Order: sequence, then C-alpha cells, then structure tokens
Amino acid sequence: MDLLMFIFVAVFPVISDGLIVHGPSGPVVAPLGSSVVLLCYVDELLVMEDLEVEWRRTDSETLVHLYQDGESRPEVQQQDYHDRAHFFTDQIQHGNFSLLLDNLRAEDEGRYTCRVYSQQGSGETVVQIKDVEHLLVSGSDESISVSVGEDVTLSCSVDSHITPEHIEEVLWRKTDGDILVLLFQNNETLPDSSDERYRDRVELFTAEIPKGNFSLRLKSVRTEDKGVYMCLVFAGGLSANATVVLEQLGELMDINKHNIKA
Ligand SMILES: *[C@@H]1O[C@H](CO)[C@@H](O)[C@H](O)[C@H]1NC(C)=O
Ligand SMILES: *[C@@H]1O[C@H](CO)[C@@H](O)[C@H](O)[C@H]1NC(C)=O
Ligand SMILES: *[C@@H]1O[C@H](CO)[C@@H](O)[C@H](O)[C@H]1NC(C)=O
Ligand SMILES: *[C@@H]1O[C@H](CO)[C@@H](O)[C@H](O)[C@H]1NC(C)=O
Repeated sequence: MDLLMFIFVAVFPVISDGLIVHGPSGPVVAPLGSSVVLLCYVDELLVMEDLEVEWRRTDSETLVHLYQDGESRPEVQQQDYHDRAHFFTDQIQHGNFSLLLDNLRAEDEGRYTCRVYSQQGSGETVVQIKDVEHLLVSGSDESISVSVGEDVTLSCSVDSHITPEHIEEVLWRKTDGDILVLLFQNNETLPDSSDERYRDRVELFTAEIPKGNFSLRLKSVRTEDKGVYMCLVFAGGLSANATVVLEQLGELMDINKHNIKA
C-alpha cells in the first residue's frame, strides 16, 4: 500500500507537466510557391512569462523558428527559413503558436515539431508537409516550321500552380552551340544578356507572363536559327525544362526570285 502511494506520487508530477499541444488532423498538402499554416496550439491559457516555442525540422533538428523572451527570434532561424517562416505574433497570447510558411519549396517536405515550454508544463506536436507539387514545364511536341524572314512563336509554359513572382529565372537557350537566347530574372527580361545573334529579335509576351506563359517571339528568322531551343525554368528550388524544335521550309527570297522568273 505504501509502495503504491509512493508510485502514485512519483508519477503524478510527470503527468501534470505534460501540456497537451494540438496540431492539424492530417498532413499539409500544398502547391509549390504557396503559403501554408502549420497548426500548433493549446486549449488552456498559458502564463506568458518564460514561455518558449520552438519549431524544428523533426529529422534534422534544424531550427525553423523560435519564440523566446516575449518575442520571435528571427536571428537564430536557419537561413532557409529566414523571411519565410513567421509566427502569428498577436495569436501567441491566445495559445496559438501556428507557423506561417511562405513560398513553399520542394525541400520543405517533411516533418516539423512544435515544442512548447511554459510554467504550466511542456509538450509538443508534429506536423507533416507532403506532396509539394513538382515543377512542370511544357513546350511544343511538334517541330515548328517557318520560312526565313518570318516571325515565329516558340511555346513554353509552366503548368504548376506556381505564382509568377515565385519564378526565379527563365532562360531560353539554343542547345546546339549553347547560345543564350533570352534571360528573364527577378520578374524582368534582361535584353543585354541575349547573345548578339538574338538581341533585338526576341521577346516574351508580357501579358502572358502572369499566366506562366513564357513563350518566345523570335522575329525575322534566319537560316542559322534552325535547331533545338530549350526553355529552362527555375522556381522553388527546382528546375524543369522543355524543348522546341525549329525547322525551316523554303527561303522566302528564293520563292520571290522564282516568281519573278516565271
Ligand atoms: C491559429 O492561428 C491561425 C492563423 O491565424 C489560424 O489559421 C488558426 O485557425 C488558429 N488556430 C486556433 C486554434 O485558433
Ligand atoms: C512583374 O512585372 C510586371 C510588369 O513589369 C508588373 O506588372 C508586376 O507587378 C511585377 N510583379 C512583381 C511581383 O514584381
Ligand atoms: C502563350 O502565349 C502565346 C502568345 O500570346 C500564345 O500563342 C500561346 O497559345 C500561349 N500559350 C498558352 C499555353 O497559353
Ligand atoms: C532537362 O530536363 C530533363 C528531364 O526532363 C533532365 O534530364 C535534363 O537534365 C534537363 N536539362 C537541363 C539542362 O536542365
């Protein structure tokens, strides 16, 4: 009997130390580049003094974010999460320690532990991010035929649900000879980076960019333009590409000469 009492007393403080921390009911599934809320909250009101909340990658223990001494501590956040992971600061006093993670990247897939330390006890919950959509880029399956001197559109579109401001870079390259045709970076075309053979002859369709359409307009096609063009897209830590084959039919000049003779 005395022994049972002893066990009861010894175990009781451990139970009362355990704070029940809630998380989401299932994994978080979201597209590349989107923002997600990783839920973590308690039902009881906690004393704010000495309250500490840490979010870590469960596998690597990487610090995603920390709330300590009454404020969030971005300076100790791991670089990858800097400016991307935020607490809802005004919610913390209500026991809501959820984390907002912006611009979701492929490598964000995994488990996250939210640990809460308070005067009333400590506890944790685990949130999983999975199936972050992959980057899909499509070009044109059929080769494009064009005559010298004509203008042509080479197709390239991003099929993922990624918002254009999260597209870091698009580059159009002619694969044979590895010639840079056009570079789009930080939401703008950099015309000076185009190889001189293409400078002033190429452009994107500005109005189409917000739709993820990075098709290229190539003006007054020359004989040497024939070949394979690659559209390479970088976003959310991923890259994907598509190719378009440009073929030529006759030369307009020859047809004209022939017509004059006839
Ligand atoms: C915590 O805050 C987030 C962001 O405002 C919200 O989505 C979530 O519903 C809140 N959870 C609770 C339990 O209040
Ligand atoms: C990107 O550029 C377009 C056109 O110059 C502009 O309308 C748009 O606001 C820019 N978007 C961002 C996120 O800077
Ligand atoms: C992209 O824009 C070009 C030029 O307006 C258009 O011809 C093409 O059909 C568009 N592609 C897609 C997939 O919308
Ligand atoms: C283009 O994409 C293919 C897979 O679709 C990949 O194997 C190849 O390495 C990519 N090329 C470049 C230059 O990124």
